[in-house]
Order: sequence, then structure tokens, then C-alpha cells
Amino acid sequence: MSAEFSITVEDSGERFTCPDGERVLIAMEKQGLRHIPIGCRGGGCGTCRVRVLSGTYRTRKMSRAHVSEADERAGIVLACRLIPESDLALRLAGGGEGV
Ligand code: FES
Repeated sequence: MSAEFSITVEDSGERFTCPDGERVLIAMEKQGLRHIPIGCRGGGCGTCRVRVLSGTYRTRKMSRAHVSEADERAGIVLACRLIPESDLALRLAGGGEGV
């Protein structure tokens, strides 16, 4: 399958695409965009924290130092660990700001 999903960053209204199976932050960076802050790209720094407002997704392992279980229930994820399963709307959630 070669679906592409549309990712909207509500803060700026910017939109980019993410291929099926790709991580949102990596897809964004490959398109030369910087709508979401880029850090380690490996789930360890929390720079790319976002809150998913709508859409379905899965995540790779995320550090509990940056995304607590309560955060995760509220849709907070690390964009470098985030793999969309539908179009997504996001909001930047900053490093360590909580829900
Ligand atoms: S860029 Fe470091 S956690 Fe995502």
C-alpha cells in the first residue's frame, strides 16, 4: 500500500504529507519543512512533542521522561515516533509543558 496522509499543524495552519509507515517528523524534514521543532529524531529529547487533535495513529516506543501515561491518553506524542494511520491534525505541545 502506498497511501499518503495529510498532516496539519494547527498552530500555523501548515500542511504536509506523510507516506504510510513513515514517521511524521521524518516525512516533514524530508520535505525541507520545519513546522515541528526537530531534535534527536530518536524519541529521547522531547523537542518534537505534539498533541494529536484528530485522526488515528500508532507510535514507536517513547521515553516516559517526555510522554507520561496521562499525556499519552490525552493524545500527546513525539512526532519522531508518530506514524499516522489517517490524516492527522496536530498542535505543538513543547518540551515538558504537560497537558
Ligand atoms: S526529536 Fe527528540 S524526541 Fe523527537
